[in-house]
Amino acid sequence: MIPTLPLGADGPVLPALGLGCMGMSEFYGETDDKRSLLVLRRAHELGVRMFDTADMYGNGHNEELLARFLSEGGRDSALVATKFGIRKAPGEYARTIDNSTEYIREACEASLQRLGVERIALYYVHRAETGRPIEDTMMALANLVQAGKIARIGLSEVSDDTLRRAHTVHPVAAVQSEYSLTTRDMEAEMLPACRELEIAFVAYSPLGRGLLSGAFDLDALSESDFRRNLPRFSSSTMEENLTRLDTLRVIADRREATPAQVALAWVLAKGVFAIPGTKQLSYLEQNVAAASLRLSPDDIARLDRAYAPGSFIGERYTAEGMKGVNA
Ligand SMILES: NC(=O)c1ccc[n+]([C@@H]2O[C@H](COP(=O)([O-])OP(=O)(O)OC[C@H]3O[C@@H](n4cnc5c(N)ncnc54)[C@H](OP(=O)(O)O)[C@@H]3O)[C@@H](O)[C@H]2O)c1
Repeated sequence: MIPTLPLGADGPVLPALGLGCMGMSEFYGETDDKRSLLVLRRAHELGVRMFDTADMYGNGHNEELLARFLSEGGRDSALVATKFGIRKAPGEYARTIDNSTEYIREACEASLQRLGVERIALYYVHRAETGRPIEDTMMALANLVQAGKIARIGLSEVSDDTLRRAHTVHPVAAVQSEYSLTTRDMEAEMLPACRELEIAFVAYSPLGRGLLSGAFDLDALSESDFRRNLPRFSSSTMEENLTRLDTLRVIADRREATPAQVALAWVLAKGVFAIPGTKQLSYLEQNVAAASLRLSPDDIARLDRAYAPGSFIGERYTAEGMKGVNA
């Protein structure tokens, strides 16, 4: 059974394991809609309810893929979360961040159209725009809640100060940021803030973008794979990072699980949502099974110690990308 968590103070109670859909459209090499639809259907069959997308994943392609999945019927219980705020050209990483009121309205209408829904269940600010008060962004989003266009507001990669200010304007249902054994910055302030304010925390890239799978092969990535741009994934850095997986492997062997499953079980044990991304049925099934893997307090303590913050080297984004986080 997948453990459940509330999506914010008065949101629905949902299975804590969701599905990240980004790679089905862009960033991680080849995509195949037919195969992705099989993964989406199977995820729903296995009890996954939170499906994570964004308007910029494949420049709308990912939302359209989810619309196909939703339109098959019997999907009333699926909760699709999408995001706005990053404007970029197809296939380019260069981007601008736009949280203007006019753009929020425009982006929301476009996502509603592409998803084929009347209301977006969870609408995230993908990145907060530097220099624009979060209060103004929240006012624009609160107007969309009032108008029935979105049900709940989320924030991605914000600082805890921004979160607290935002929450005074309108309740924030969820914060989505990177969190895994490779990236534990959220533990210092964000996770306690979310607990205090009864805001759900959604861990993205809970497998460290594949690094924690124990089977990651940099050479096998396609030329266009976005991870090739990331300092943490540069060849010398990755070589060193891959030597750090021993504890994960030892615990995985003892539990008759894979390193990816133990990495996911560790995230879920922290009482947060996790949205691992995959395009493959076998990985999806392994990830759902990981939600039933209960690590012992001793396993968790060992993982906490072995992967103390900073254990993995290399920034998780380029210098440009890092400007958008903790905003
Ligand atoms: N808010 C944000 O700024 C933000 C940023 C990044 C991501 N996200 C969201 O978070 C989701 C998940 O993050 P992510 O996809 O970047 O990283 P992730 O879930 O940490 O890792 C995905 C990678 O791990 C592989 N994988 C998945 N399950 C596996 C398993 N059981 N065993 C071995 N390998 C496995 C996948 O392979 P295959 O591709 O071959 O299946 C893919 O290469 C995204 O889909 C997106 O919805 C949000």
